Amino acid sequence: MTIKFWMLASAACVASASPGWAQAPSANDVTQADARAAVTVKAMQPGEKIVLTHGIMPLPFGDKPVAIPADAIPGAGYVAGIARLGVPALKETDASLGVAYVGGIRKDGATPLPSGLAQAATWNPDILYAGGAMIGAEARAKGFNVLLAGGVNLTRDPRNGRTFEYLSEDPLLSGHLVGAAIRGIQSNHIISTIKHYALNGQETGRKFVNSEISEAAARESDLLAFQIGIEQGQPLSVMCSYNVVNGAHACDSDHLLNTVLKGDWRWKGFVMSDWGAVPSLDTAIHGLDQQSGAQLDPKLFFADDLAAKAKADPQWAARLDDMNRRVLTAIYAAGIDKNPATSGGKIDFVKDGEVALEAEKQGIVLLKNDGNVLPLAKNAKRIAVIGGFAAAGVLSGGGSSQTDPEGGPKASVPLGIDGPWAAFFAQHYHGTAPLAAIRAMASKADVTFRDGAFISEAVDQAKRADVAIVFATKWSTEGKDQADFTLPNGQDALIAAVAAANPHTIVVLETGNPVDMPWLDKVPGVIEAWYGGARGGDAIASVLFGETNPSGRLPITFPARASQLPRPVLDGYWDLETNFMGDPPTPATKLSANYNIEGSDVGYRWFARKGEKALFPFGHGLSYTSFAADGLKVDGLKASFTVKNTGARAGAYVAQLYLTARGGEARERLAGFARIMLQPGESKPITLTIDPRILADWTEKGWTIKGGPYSFALGEDAEHLAAPVSTTLKSKTWKD
Ligand code: BGC
Repeated sequence: MTIKFWMLASAACVASASPGWAQAPSANDVTQADARAAVTVKAMQPGEKIVLTHGIMPLPFGDKPVAIPADAIPGAGYVAGIARLGVPALKETDASLGVAYVGGIRKDGATPLPSGLAQAATWNPDILYAGGAMIGAEARAKGFNVLLAGGVNLTRDPRNGRTFEYLSEDPLLSGHLVGAAIRGIQSNHIISTIKHYALNGQETGRKFVNSEISEAAARESDLLAFQIGIEQGQPLSVMCSYNVVNGAHACDSDHLLNTVLKGDWRWKGFVMSDWGAVPSLDTAIHGLDQQSGAQLDPKLFFADDLAAKAKADPQWAARLDDMNRRVLTAIYAAGIDKNPATSGGKIDFVKDGEVALEAEKQGIVLLKNDGNVLPLAKNAKRIAVIGGFAAAGVLSGGGSSQTDPEGGPKASVPLGIDGPWAAFFAQHYHGTAPLAAIRAMASKADVTFRDGAFISEAVDQAKRADVAIVFATKWSTEGKDQADFTLPNGQDALIAAVAAANPHTIVVLETGNPVDMPWLDKVPGVIEAWYGGARGGDAIASVLFGETNPSGRLPITFPARASQLPRPVLDGYWDLETNFMGDPPTPATKLSANYNIEGSDVGYRWFARKGEKALFPFGHGLSYTSFAADGLKVDGLKASFTVKNTGARAGAYVAQLYLTARGGEARERLAGFARIMLQPGESKPITLTIDPRILADWTEKGWTIKGGPYSFALGEDAEHLAAPVSTTLKSKTWKD
């Protein structure tokens, strides 16, 4: 059996993937749409040329309220159409985890997917595709035709408040997964973005922090994730980010937008700004095509000012034509003019919930399972469930991506922020409740619940129980990074006390970032359930009781200590008086994040370079069965090996192939992966094709493979590697 690694995901595991109903646009569709767009641009009158170049945020918020057109849907964005030319308005909604809740202003609900990290922990592009197809269909049913999805920033700093929205620290994994999600979304006649381009690595000072990085390191890491995502997903829009990159605002970066994205990568879609990320009119010349949510910027640059420039200067006139052509290319390639989305469409929340359930089941990571404390016996007599709002639902992440089911959150913890944004920045617990799901699973057991507010009470319950399950939560949000890796509100002390009272203590983590586990030696079982989405409680119970054999693998390193990181202290966190959303306290505020420290060695690559041991490494995850992966042969860029299920239960295995050395010099890179379902005793041969960019250096001449020996090894995770196997590659240089 020869299978390309990104196609390997066992379709049989994906219970009810919403397929989308159309064909996601191919590169060829985009080329045809581009030709059609050129014809329309010729037919445009001068006044029409500044219609598609700017939009508003159709919400009654902000310092400068705008008139909201009658056909706008409350959501992130609205760009007027041109009826004379049959060009529809763009109706934009967040985001990657579902159709966003926008503080409940629309009074409807949507199906929340598990967090980005949870989806990525499946290492399964089919899961990402199914999730994308589902949220794209829900967006359509609500009348939206643009999803501001595709968050693919590498998790350079695990304390980033938006880590939960993103996918992983590795460009190959992130790129393939985001590409699959975008294909799913765009299979609904919906435009998807890929975002936030680029190097938007922290929320602290997000509107002015300067990400410093060499060109080679950027191309081999963060930009590679975007490049692969664009190749795989053909997103019709790119959202440029708030931050500064090597001195230029990302939305004003001629280099990032014109040279790399539109030049080297020959991408034909349109660049939209992030909301409030446009510093000036010159951004147009530097490659920005559309000013989004313009009332959040210092000025509406992309309307009258743009028209005046175009009238006076042929270079600007040509640029304006190109801006229109690019927006039209996206509209035509997605087919949103011929297949208009209409609000009031029917959504089958039960069916869509199944998609979220499957994603969470495959994304839960069994971190520790000493003495096979898990799965739990369904005939346990007394189970103490403690903490984490487990009686209400599962935690979700805050900010623009916040999604809530019909009826809104089951529990909400306000943060005391004033004004209309308050609803965006409260901790929401939603979806199915773990407590109810545990009770349903262990129907004969006496299952007690204590909220964990009082340690003495939790200890008392734990002492009387056969097993104690502590739910520990850590909220994270757009707009604010994490101060440190601790679990907040005394939860570490709660876990330690419960573990001391009951040797059968299981910890279920619901976190958006890696966390410290000072109690780890004291508890036999730990699962990372992330933010679980619409059916989070059911998925957790299913893993706890063994109906689901866990198969998730960490897409991010859990450090043992902050001192192991390239930046032990997150830049600016303790020094800057930034506002919650990262606005500069003064226009002159300066802040840099020096990404040249690790360069392209993000996450596990940095740990390998420094010989550091993680608390839990990238790629780690246990199963209720056992596997053997062996027989690795590498011939040029083809790797083959066999995986066998050596245990007694059916289960999915995530095979990981790592580059370990180049020319005899140690260098660790994920070079391929495959998720495969195996019955007990079953074995399957796997062939992976290695992307040469993972092995190459980027230089001004393009990608270069140095001739010589390359060593590869199969890994249980990034730290536990089998004996390496070598192949010799000829030297080669090529352009993108
Ligand atoms: C976020 C984007 C989002 C946009 C619109 C911004 O604050 O950074 O991810 O798509 O708002 O809501």
